[in-house]
Order: sequence, then C-alpha cells, then structure tokens
Amino acid sequence: MKILVTGGAGYIGSHTCVELINAGFNLLVYDNFSNSSRQTLKSVEKIVGQEIPYIIGDVRDEAALENALIGCDAVIHFAGLKSVGESVVKPLSYYDTNVYGTLCLLRAMQKLQIKKLVFSSSATVYGNPEFLPFTEKHPLRATNPYGETKLVVEEMLRDLYVSDSTWAIMILRYFNPIGAHESGLIGEDPKGIPNNLMPFIAQVAVGKREKVSVFGDDYPTKDGTGVRDYIHVVDLAIGHVKALQVLNKTQCTAINLGAGKGYSVLDIIGAFNKVCGKDLPYVIMPRRSGDIAEFYSDPSLAKEMLCWEAKRTIDDMCQSMWNFQIKNFKGHEV
Ligand code: NAD
Ligand code: UFG
Repeated sequence: MKILVTGGAGYIGSHTCVELINAGFNLLVYDNFSNSSRQTLKSVEKIVGQEIPYIIGDVRDEAALENALIGCDAVIHFAGLKSVGESVVKPLSYYDTNVYGTLCLLRAMQKLQIKKLVFSSSATVYGNPEFLPFTEKHPLRATNPYGETKLVVEEMLRDLYVSDSTWAIMILRYFNPIGAHESGLIGEDPKGIPNNLMPFIAQVAVGKREKVSVFGDDYPTKDGTGVRDYIHVVDLAIGHVKALQVLNKTQCTAINLGAGKGYSVLDIIGAFNKVCGKDLPYVIMPRRSGDIAEFYSDPSLAKEMLCWEAKRTIDDMCQSMWNFQIKNFKGHEV
C-alpha cells in the first residue's frame, strides 16, 4: 500500500514516516519545506535505512497533487500551518493553507478516485471544556483562527462523506505532542523563539535561553499552572499507522489521540529537571491570552477502534527531547 504523506518532513510527519516504513508501507512525501527541510528526510532515511521518495510541492497546487497521487492508495494529510498566535495575526494565510489546501487535496483525490484519508485535527476544536475528559462527543467550538480552520476542514470531510459514503476518513484529534525519536535524529526544531512549552524548556536546559516563562500560576488547577495531555510523538505516529489499518472500512470518524492524563507546566519542568540533571530556572508570568486552564482526553475510542493506546511516559517524553536537543544544539537548518 502506497501512502502520500503531505507535510511528511515536519515534526509529526517525519516520525510517522519512520513508523510507516517500519510497518511495511510504501510512501511518498509531499512537502514545500516551508517549516522543515530536506535534512529531516535524510535523518529519516538514516533511521530506516532506505531512501524516502519526496516531491517538493504546495498543497494549494492541485495539478501537482494530482501527479503526486498517481499510484497512491491513501493519504495522510499533515501539511498545514499550526501556530495559534500567528493565526490571529495572519488568519487569511491559515485559511488559505489549511482550508483551501485541503480542498485542493480532496478535489485531486476525488479526481483520481483515491478515497482513503487520515487528517491531522487538534484538541483545539473542543474549545473551552464543558466537561472533562474531552470525549469525541464534546461540543465543537474553535476559539481562534487556527482552530477554526481545523473545524471547517472537519465539517468539509463530514459533508463529503455524506455525499459519497465510499470514502474512508479518519480525523485524528491530537492532544499535546512532545518528545522525539529515540535516535535523537529527528524531533521538534522550531524556527525562532518556540511558542510551545516543551521546545522552550529544552532550549533553556541546553543554555540557548535563560529561563522558562510559566504563563500563569493562578488557574484552578492542582498547582495553579496550565494542565495538558502530553503525548509522545512516537506514540502519536503509531496511532496513524493503526488508523490506516482500519481504513478498509468506509467511514468518517473523529478520534482523540491523547494519553488521557493531565500534567501541569510545573510537572513538566520537574520531569525535565530529572532528565537533564539540573533545576531549570523559571519565572511566573501573566496568563497567555486565549489559554485554557486545563484539558485532557478520554482516549477510550482510540483503544476500541484502533487498538491503540499511548505507552510512553512523561519521563520518556522528556528524556527523548533532551537527547534530541543535546544532539542538535544548532537545530536542523543547513
Ligand atoms: P510542522 O510544521 O512540523 O509540519 C507541517 C509540515 O507541512 C512542514 O513540513 C511544512 O513544511 C509543511 N507545509 C506547510 N505548509 C505547506 C504547504 N502549503 N504545502 C506543502 N507543505 C506544507 O507541524 P506538525 O507539528 O508536524 O503538525 C502536523 C499537523 O498536525 C498540522 O496540520 C498541525 O496543524 C497538526 N497538529 C499539530 C499539533 C502540534 O502540537 N504539533 C497539535 C495538533 C494538530
Ligand atoms: N506554557 C508556558 N510557557 C511557555 C509555553 C507554554 O507556561 O513558554 C504553558 C501554556 O500556558 C499551557 C501549556 O504550557 O498551559 C502548554 O502550552 P503549549 O503552547 O505547549 O501548548 P497548547 O496547549 O497551548 O497548544 C498545543 C498546540 C496547539 C494544539 C494544542 C492541542 O500549540 O496547536 O496543543 O493539541 F491545538
């Protein structure tokens, strides 16, 4: 089975390429390298010991997608923009890449009669929790343009399935992916100042940044700091392989991929201190605008439908991130 992996050179995409090859799939990466580089695919090649075919292309280029799709059986669609803060400043870019890009992909797939798709959605589609843990039945309500683009695409996919029930679509709602491949060859390597907690902590640990800013310590959580459901990126990648394996049945199903446990910002700093062997300096800052106090998943549907559950611990997540960070002090840019 041959899989087109859009955004396959990115953080989650590159880890998924490794697991796809391990599971015996053929793949073709389709990426414009706007937030990644050829170097990452070379690292994937080193891990799996074989060449990774790729096409440099944009998901908004329908004709190029049609060519890329020839001979493929299914698509995993990672390509997109993912920064909540940036989406508030540049909403049209987000609608263009995430919504229009997906529309182009779906049209190209329809033209070639390729109707198996795994789509990267996000827990952000749940908005402020009405209850926790989030089950897939929780009402959907985006609170920023990035989340809105994920929600619009989810709706587009559900409408498509209603119109043609021969499609097999898995919408995967990721919680907070962190960590890196155990080889230390691939991991999260954001350009500029990291927006997310884990890469920021790792850069403080390696001496690239002075201290961690903790955004708020007055939330109604166990220690006042924000609580999230962190999931090891390798577990997440394996979830995609499992999703592909159930796409032999036509459906349009949304599934949470999370570990089902909440950890606070201070928990994560504490866990990282243990693996890097020092007490990382941090400072309490005001709350970050738009942040939710606490959310975590109910992962039982993934267990039932995909026979998948997150196996790796918070310590594994921090250890692998630290390993990646010390091996890649300057990051991947070449
Ligand atoms: P990433 O930025 O590392 O990877 C995205 C990849 O898509 C990059 O390689 C980038 O070059 C490529 N890309 C971007 N725009 C493109 C375009 N127009 N045409 C072709 N390629 C393009 O991000 P990631 O963390 O690996 O996220 C992958 C997907 O998962 C995204 O859709 C993201 O919204 C979603 N997601 C991520 C998280 C997270 O915390 N990382 C959480 C929930 C959902
Ligand atoms: N935080 C800090 N300091 C930092 C960065 C973050 O204290 O420097 C805190 C945040 O306030 C939050 C927690 O750490 O309480 C996690 O924040 P992240 O920015 O790492 O992650 P988010 O939960 O805000 O969002 C991430 C992705 C979204 C995605 C969501 C759910 O950025 O795109 O997970 O998957 F939608």
